[in-house]
Amino acid sequence: MSQTGNRRERPKVAVTRKLPDSVETRMAELFDVTLNLADEPLSKEALKAAVATADVLVPTVTDTIDAEVIEAAGEQLKLIANFGAGVDHIDLKAAHKKGIVVTNTPGVLTEDTADLAMALLLSVPRRIFEGEKILRSGHWTGWTPTFLMGHRIQGKRLGIIGMGRIGQAIARRARAFNMAVHYHKRTRLPAQVEAELEATYWADLDQMLSRMDFVSVNCPLTPETHHLLNRDRLKKMQPHSVIINTARGEIIDEEALADMIEVGRLAGAGLDVFEEEPTINPKLLSLDNVVLLPHMGSATIEARVAMGEKVLINIRTFMDNHRPPDRVLPL
Ligand code: 8YV
Repeated sequence: MSQTGNRRERPKVAVTRKLPDSVETRMAELFDVTLNLADEPLSKEALKAAVATADVLVPTVTDTIDAEVIEAAGEQLKLIANFGAGVDHIDLKAAHKKGIVVTNTPGVLTEDTADLAMALLLSVPRRIFEGEKILRSGHWTGWTPTFLMGHRIQGKRLGIIGMGRIGQAIARRARAFNMAVHYHKRTRLPAQVEAELEATYWADLDQMLSRMDFVSVNCPLTPETHHLLNRDRLKKMQPHSVIINTARGEIIDEEALADMIEVGRLAGAGLDVFEEEPTINPKLLSLDNVVLLPHMGSATIEARVAMGEKVLINIRTFMDNHRPPDRVLPL
């Protein structure tokens, strides 16, 4: 970057995936931008080449920005402005060590992701996709009193793991459906927030798991939460209980989850995220009481445009030598 006191007016910005048109147009107006119109995920070599010359990298969840990529960054790379809230695909420590600022896009995808979690939470016990499949396959022979009976969610206990923005938005929806809200979080919410959400706090995750009818995973993926729901923890859950995951696949031991659902040790799951996206564990694909979605929690045009606007604001404020609003600090 040719700097003359201030950061350069039109920074060189490399965007790794196709973004909504309006976001790309604005980026092209403001920055010297390289877009990925083909929308093919960039290889590691392509990522390394991008950071070697760009002032700003705009990655998404499909890019692994590990120490090797950060190592390949030229001195001019000062900002990684992630398009997305989760930053588990970025080595924050390596970035920080090299003086590279990392930002994300929290807040604007909260309600949409909570809606999708709620949709999964309704779909599994009410067997919505099973019904759809039977109808479309032409196998529906008409109404009967015992056909496709599921379970009601009213009055059931929902345990939310990680009660940040999205967890709280799910809690509000669950209350509207008359569910009892419980949560586990490293640090307890302020009493007033807890009271507003009518949520019961569990310091001990195992104890909460053993008492819930539904569990929703909403914590970030970190080294501490990787396989947080391992086989032993999943065994703590009651056989009639259902897991919803709209956070990150790696928080659950997917193989253990599939095994337990297969043998009836858990009642089902609604999953929007997976350990090896876009590869899906074949065992999960064979189970009827599992609803699988292709990582679409924030996939509304409104959220994706707002995420793009956040990226723009983060880059602009940073280039104007101000603190970008959504700076992420290393753990
Ligand atoms: C995004 C997400 O679509 O924001 C996140 O962390 O998981 C998704 O909602 C994706 O991460 C975009 O990079």
